[in-house]
Amino acid sequence: MKQRFAFLLLILTMLVGKNYSQVNHTLVVNAAQTKATVDPTMWGIFFEDINFGADGGIYAELVKNRSFEFFKPMMGWTVNRKKLVEGELLVINRGEENTRNPRFLRVTMNNAVKGDLGLTNEGFRGMGIKKGLRYDFSVLYRQPEAHTKLHIELTDSTKRVVGDTVLSLTEAGDSWHKAAVTFHANETLLKGRLNIWFEGNGTVDLDMISLFPGDTWKNRPGGMRADMVQLLADMKPGFIRFPGGCIVEGFDLTNRYRWKNTVGPIEERQLMINRWNIEFPYRNAPDYFQTFGLGFFEYFQLADDIGAEPLPILNCGMACQFNSAELVPMKDLDPFIQDALDLIEFANGDVNTKWGKVRAEMGHPAPFNLKMMGIGNENWGPQYIERLKAFQAAIKGKYPNIKLICSSGTDPNGERFDYLNGELRKLNADFIDEHYYRKPEWFLQNARRYDNYPRTGSKVFGGEYASHVDNTVGSKRNTWLAALSEAAFMTGLERNADVVGMASYAPLFANVDGWQWAPDLIWVNNLQAYGTPDYQVQKLFSLNKGSKAVPITLNKDAVAGQDSLYASACIDAAANELIIKVVNASDKAQNNTLQLDGVKKLAAKGKLLTMQSDLTAVNSFDSPTNVAPVESTIAIKNKKIVLNTAPYSFSVLRVKLD
Ligand code: AHR
Repeated sequence: MKQRFAFLLLILTMLVGKNYSQVNHTLVVNAAQTKATVDPTMWGIFFEDINFGADGGIYAELVKNRSFEFFKPMMGWTVNRKKLVEGELLVINRGEENTRNPRFLRVTMNNAVKGDLGLTNEGFRGMGIKKGLRYDFSVLYRQPEAHTKLHIELTDSTKRVVGDTVLSLTEAGDSWHKAAVTFHANETLLKGRLNIWFEGNGTVDLDMISLFPGDTWKNRPGGMRADMVQLLADMKPGFIRFPGGCIVEGFDLTNRYRWKNTVGPIEERQLMINRWNIEFPYRNAPDYFQTFGLGFFEYFQLADDIGAEPLPILNCGMACQFNSAELVPMKDLDPFIQDALDLIEFANGDVNTKWGKVRAEMGHPAPFNLKMMGIGNENWGPQYIERLKAFQAAIKGKYPNIKLICSSGTDPNGERFDYLNGELRKLNADFIDEHYYRKPEWFLQNARRYDNYPRTGSKVFGGEYASHVDNTVGSKRNTWLAALSEAAFMTGLERNADVVGMASYAPLFANVDGWQWAPDLIWVNNLQAYGTPDYQVQKLFSLNKGSKAVPITLNKDAVAGQDSLYASACIDAAANELIIKVVNASDKAQNNTLQLDGVKKLAAKGKLLTMQSDLTAVNSFDSPTNVAPVESTIAIKNKKIVLNTAPYSFSVLRVKLD
């Protein structure tokens, strides 16, 4: 109640003007007393294909509906022809002959020359085109005679060409062939398009029409957007959770995520509607599908690239309980459990095993060293526990060292949560996945949430969280208030690192032109990506996580809201440094003295990283680091540091221990 009042006061003073009176506190750090080991996996990232995060986002494919498998087979494509002759363009369904990629386009040319008959692909809300960059075009085709030329063009909305080339299709016969060509763009466009003009006579069949930029992450053909991956790599995350989120569950079981459909050659990965296509009527995205060009192999590879532990989440035999709540009867659960066992083999198995071989054929003979996986996302009720038990028995029976992450439902309290929390602890679950999408007030009030949690048994995975500001301070935007309240809460997670083993903000990415859910950690358009203030906070925690938590107290009590001050401290054993984090969530400057006990000798100066802003401040494409850490040095004298924290600030100090 007291804290609620303090928070209201904070909002009120924020609205009527700042109070610059000063408060002085002495915070005592005891660097010699280890409170908890901080797991290297403590701060991670949560990836879900929501908000056009994968297709239209980090997966760099520029062509939308490249294999004509959307419900409307020509969605994303327009035909360029003054008057289309009946039958000139046909979408043909191979049916049983190719159930994973049934449709292709048959084009009939009547002595066509460039400009007669063509197609335009609009991309995912346009295509980001960069001046001077190489573009890789490819297509699968077959034709009775070798007669077709494709004139490839990149254009702006006025049809002005900013890059072009010609691709001759030279093979004839009944088989499919791949043709590819590269060319360069001579202008930068935020919303470019792709034209294909046909030249020739007779028919040609086309499928998997694809265009990738040449600057993908690690220059991998058909790879990911380097700018987006770089933002993740810069965080040095401890783990990456994938592929969601609700997408794991599906709106019904046919729509659940099935990892086996996402590996192997991309033309054999069976496309599926993205559940976020229809989830929110007010944010409809009729063109949102999952091509799985970014599939489980690529997720594991990404984890490997950025040094994060892979954390896949699998369907537990239950579809989303907010939607169909469809259940697999227990007698039919085996294939779901087998998927989990096979995934472990895919990730870790020898190349001579069935699934280890698939991994090796995809280019990674070495194991991915999977150590943990989640069973179910936001599933609840006795039906979940019943299914989880079956998974747990089978997985632990065969792979006792694999840690399992278990769902505690959608909310961090209430009857549903209490039931699951109790049952999961009885089952000795390795990790209990708690989700909190709450107001800033909740995050500030819950900085002590884990102070009194059981210190043994199941650990907590704060698997999804984000502070949602209300309309008084900007509708659900990634404001500094949101990020600051998360920072305050995260000091509580760090202080309780023996209880909380992992945590990740959610969701990760949002495309400005195609989002369904806000706020999000990183916003992108077709050319740029920027981290929000929340991203900057996550990054600060991750880059400054330390290896063991030590106490930091105010009047012998954890610093968790007194005078709106929040703090945590840890030792980074590898760097031999003491790290202190202090959040001042008040409108007052606070002159804190940090008293450093339990240390022999300290360097004379430390590094100080400070974030401070108005509570409504945000980052943007024009000002991507408007709210970001500023680095300075700070003096240490007689094992004391005077840390003047500005109103609404977050400070991270690093001090060398000698
Ligand atoms: O992060 C967005 C969604 O929030 C996730 O898909 C789901 O797990 C949660 O409800």
